[in-house]
Amino acid sequence: MARSFVQITDLSVDEVWEVFDLCEKMKKGEIAPKPFAGKSVGCIFHKASLRTRISFEVGIHQLGGQSLYITEKEISLGVRESINDAAKVLSRYLATIMIRTFSHSDVEELAEHADVPVINGLTDLVHPCQILGDYFTLLEHRGRRDDFKIAYLGDGNNITNSWLNLASLIPMKFWIGTAAETGPDETILKKAKSARVSEIMLTNDPKEAVAEADVIYTDVWASMGQKDKAEEKTRLLKQYQVNDALLKLAKPDCLVMHCLPAERGREITDEVMDGPHSVVFDEAENRLHIQKAIMDFAMNR
Ligand code: CP
Ligand code: NVA
Repeated sequence: MARSFVQITDLSVDEVWEVFDLCEKMKKGEIAPKPFAGKSVGCIFHKASLRTRISFEVGIHQLGGQSLYITEKEISLGVRESINDAAKVLSRYLATIMIRTFSHSDVEELAEHADVPVINGLTDLVHPCQILGDYFTLLEHRGRRDDFKIAYLGDGNNITNSWLNLASLIPMKFWIGTAAETGPDETILKKAKSARVSEIMLTNDPKEAVAEADVIYTDVWASMGQKDKAEEKTRLLKQYQVNDALLKLAKPDCLVMHCLPAERGREITDEVMDGPHSVVFDEAENRLHIQKAIMDFAMNR
């Protein structure tokens, strides 16, 4: 079976560090020229994207391959034909399939039946490429360590779930500040806790979450596909806004992260997003390199 990347926990901890090493090489240009020459990567998008789409397409081009942008209109995955059949057919043309969609189980099914690696570019459940890129960004800024306190404030969503997956492999203090109604996925939370690798804490008190944090991370309060819940989420989450008052409680050199796109003035203020602690555009830049590393890793297993 091909080596897919559907969740961070598809990798071992050693493999995660291997991907970070490869990412560093990709960023420095220390790799053989055009390793994807003659190869095509299908990029399936059922949701909007700036960073993921452009970084995959540019990354594939930089590695000498061809990228194909495929939307619901072309393939109607699981509707026009079964996911199983589509997986088999796509595997006859492509070296790798990247997919961004709603249902996580669709991606699992695609990976199960494809003969080439399937890379998850975001589902409602997780966003694994993002969090590997973000941890790489943290290492670049703070050096290779595995004892950071990461405070995640806001909606317990695909980003939170992916942090939990990473915390089940790499030791950290992962504190989630969120409302009782907006917690992360229960199964992923339970698994991350039972891995006993990291200290994982949930609190309704944003001040407690950010105290002495090395990183404050936030994301939109209403994810794609949930925009109808925006008002309700705003009501529940307004005390978790990342602002100067909360930032003062973290470590003096605390980094502020956001996967983007941001809804400025909601989950994060302009002052913080544009301030000296923010590394949000470094995170966006590193998506390019981490994606190249993940594809190269998956194709060569
Ligand atoms: N962070 C991220 O995945 O951005 P896009 O939704 O624009 O791809
Ligand atoms: N949680 C957000 C992340 C976007 C990159 C969403 O799913 O819309």
